[in-house]
Amino acid sequence: MPVSPRQARYLDALGVMRYARRVADGIVPDASVAAPTVAVLAETSQPFTAPAASTQALAATPVASHPAVSTLPPADPALAWPRLIAQIAACTACGLSRTRTNTVPGVGDPRADWLIVGEAPGADEDATGEPFVGRAGKLLDAMLRAVGLSRQRGVYITNIVKCRPPDNRDPAPDEAGACAGYLERQIALIHPKLILAVGKVAAHNLLGTEEPMNRLRGKVWQWRGTDLPVVVTYHPAYLLRSPLEKRKSWDDLCLAQDVYRQRSGQPA
Ligand code: URA
Ligand code: SF4
Repeated sequence: MPVSPRQARYLDALGVMRYARRVADGIVPDASVAAPTVAVLAETSQPFTAPAASTQALAATPVASHPAVSTLPPADPALAWPRLIAQIAACTACGLSRTRTNTVPGVGDPRADWLIVGEAPGADEDATGEPFVGRAGKLLDAMLRAVGLSRQRGVYITNIVKCRPPDNRDPAPDEAGACAGYLERQIALIHPKLILAVGKVAAHNLLGTEEPMNRLRGKVWQWRGTDLPVVVTYHPAYLLRSPLEKRKSWDDLCLAQDVYRQRSGQPA
């Protein structure tokens, strides 16, 4: 199956080896492809087709006792944003406050159309106060660049919890619950057109479900019964461990881009 030029650029940016044809004595690299870097793939990818009528609402599971976005006081972003960041910086609402170095509220444009939500800060993020700055972050940057986005342009990047869990463990439900109100306020202030949930922990917490990733990817979900669409993709740290899945993340980004274009009235 030939890949489109855009998909080819994406796979190259993610270090995925592409092949053009098979010959009797083996697999021959596509001559147009730069030297292979990371993964060796023999399978071909499926072209992306947007699932028709795939929008589904999950039974919303309320997270802890935080106010719904609609009950929050009207936000004046100019005032509310610095206040929110300051509140996060001073927060001791869960045990992660005892072991963090820095809070990691998020980075990017507070008026972004795309909100990227990861899991939790890691060591690099804890040290710098910025999300996704380690190896996984570099891969996330490459994924975003492929669809014309960057942390400087059109995107805000944050996490389910704003403080690093010790030893990079998953955030516990009570920690995610304690932190959920900050993400809700970020969503209310940013008013994104789309949320891209990266990884299982982000998807589970955003959607209030424990469905496996293969049931969550490839569909358009709604955030807590609102019309804000949520698209789920793999976590870049998982893609670093399982490079064969990198191709599938292209399908997820195409789906996200389709949803975004639809919502902003742009042609596909
Ligand atoms: N992984 C995440 O989920 N978030 C970060 O900020 C860094 C790594
Ligand atoms: Fe507060 Fe969230 Fe940090 Fe917990 S993880 S201390 S709730 S900012």
